[in-house]
Amino acid sequence: MLKTITPRLSKKLKHFSLFAVALTLNFNYANAQVEKEKDVKAFEFLSKANAKGFERKAQEFKNGAVVSAHPEATAVGVAILKKGGNAVDATVAVKFALAVVYPNAGNIGGGGFLIYRSAKGKIASMDFREKAPALADKDMYLDVNGDPISEKSKEGHLAAGVPGTVAGMVELHKKYGKLKWAELVEPAYQLAKNGFKLTKQQVNELNRLQTKFKQFNPLGTVFIKEEGEWAAGDVLVQTELANTMRLIRDKGRAGFYEGEVAEFIEAEMKRGGGLISKEDLKNYHAAWRKPIVGDYKGYKVITMPPTSSGGIALVQMLQSVANYPLSKWGFNADSTIQVMVEAERRVYADRAKHLGDPDFWKVPQKQLLQPAYNKNRMANLNWDKATPSAEIQAGEFARKESEETTHFSVVDKDGNAVSLTTTINTSYGNYVVVKGAGFLLNNEMDDFSVKPGVANYFGLIGYEANAIAPNKRMLSSMTPTILEKDGKLAMVVGTPGGSTIMTSVFQTILNVVDFGMDMQQAVNAKKFHHQWLPDRVDIEPNALRPEIQQKLEAKGYTFYKRNSIGRVDAILVTKAGLYQTGADPRGDDTAGGW
Ligand code: DON
Repeated sequence: MLKTITPRLSKKLKHFSLFAVALTLNFNYANAQVEKEKDVKAFEFLSKANAKGFERKAQEFKNGAVVSAHPEATAVGVAILKKGGNAVDATVAVKFALAVVYPNAGNIGGGGFLIYRSAKGKIASMDFREKAPALADKDMYLDVNGDPISEKSKEGHLAAGVPGTVAGMVELHKKYGKLKWAELVEPAYQLAKNGFKLTKQQVNELNRLQTKFKQFNPLGTVFIKEEGEWAAGDVLVQTELANTMRLIRDKGRAGFYEGEVAEFIEAEMKRGGGLISKEDLKNYHAAWRKPIVGDYKGYKVITMPPTSSGGIALVQMLQSVANYPLSKWGFNADSTIQVMVEAERRVYADRAKHLGDPDFWKVPQKQLLQPAYNKNRMANLNWDKATPSAEIQAGEFARKESEETTHFSVVDKDGNAVSLTTTINTSYGNYVVVKGAGFLLNNEMDDFSVKPGVANYFGLIGYEANAIAPNKRMLSSMTPTILEKDGKLAMVVGTPGGSTIMTSVFQTILNVVDFGMDMQQAVNAKKFHHQWLPDRVDIEPNALRPEIQQKLEAKGYTFYKRNSIGRVDAILVTKAGLYQTGADPRGDDTAGGW
């Protein structure tokens, strides 16, 4: 089924030593051999990356698979699949489980997006992104001089948008779920009530943020450790959250947006000077939207439309590089990097100007998704020199007026698939745990453009399209995506990472489609990223061979080291029809299935 994604790379890795010998014996190879040599260098490079802890191998399952950021959440999803639940049932259960065991990003106090593809090929996407409260206004984060008060949109009560997760899950389940709602929320209730063991990564972060939790939760929260420090293996019991999960389990939407929990949220807002009211909660609704559908080398790319910028940007980037011989050049060869970076630069310039909540802003979606438009944008690529971002502006169209997130991928035995990315924005959101209800609120208001041209937490700038307005959704980069080939499911993919989300999804797809990696190798592979402004290429350690980096630096590219980019959790359908998983080794991400 997936002709172009033969695991070329893993085969070659196996024969790597033979290959190396062959290469040393035959210096005068013709062109074809030069290509192979490039591939070998990429493999050498990947092996080096693997030696640094990314040695995870792909797993394959026959009847269904779940890849999520936490082992407990993955286990919950697999149990639901085994019980006869479909991909949507497992999604709902994993989503609520993550809200308990991965509170830095899994949430009921935030929002997200999802792409659904049924086994028969029906596609849908849902926007359960947070909304600005009714009392929000364009200048709410500016001081008397019109300058942004930087922390206000990022921390504390005022940074929170109206949460969308519970509404989103209820809608999704109503339309496509099979098992009973209560059965799907029950595991999260149990995990909150009985506790779960904190991982090493989790305690590091909890300890780092103690001052913030104390500052924003004067009445206390379970995340505060009164004596000493959190240690890996400590059990975190969340009694207040368990009560909230019980209400959601028993009352569905009303268990969160009305009654006790709504009262708790409003009281918390009043205490801390936030804006969300009971009215805002009652009025919140998730929105079904028409997915973006693009083509890349025979794959149908089904991805997220606005309010996320992710899907449009992903398809634009794929269209921008489609005419270049990437697989011939090889993985992370200088030409490959140059073309990808120049594509990213141009696409992010468009994002800043043209994208915003489609309920408030006319997004020139059709124009941005024209293959000819994106091909033309690349016409001024100069092979000798990096194009300075200052010389790149967003495309012009006639406008008719009118670090924390988490992703998971699920496929069931029939081939129904869900790709879901969810967030409270940065890790542990606005640090406010709603007293009485036990869950963290988001700091998603920072994803708006608080002032034209002023960068948000992720360095992204925006203008009028993404200005704050009451009840408007803030622009996102989240890119839950599903690929189809020859009418059949091919890949389920997505990642957290703020502004790096769409470039990580872009790279992961190229790693499989153009560079022949299997799903886990594509996830393991080191990532790089350019977002127009700032004008620099962010790279993970060992993402580029030093000589490639030097070549590019000589052309004017600037590199900036980041510890880690993305946490891709993905599933690939193999030729044999098995579900092959890629769980990101950068986190506690875990694949499971049966
Ligand atoms: O919606 C967005 O684009 C951001 N709020 C996502 C934040 C994120 O991915 C943080 N994760 N590391």
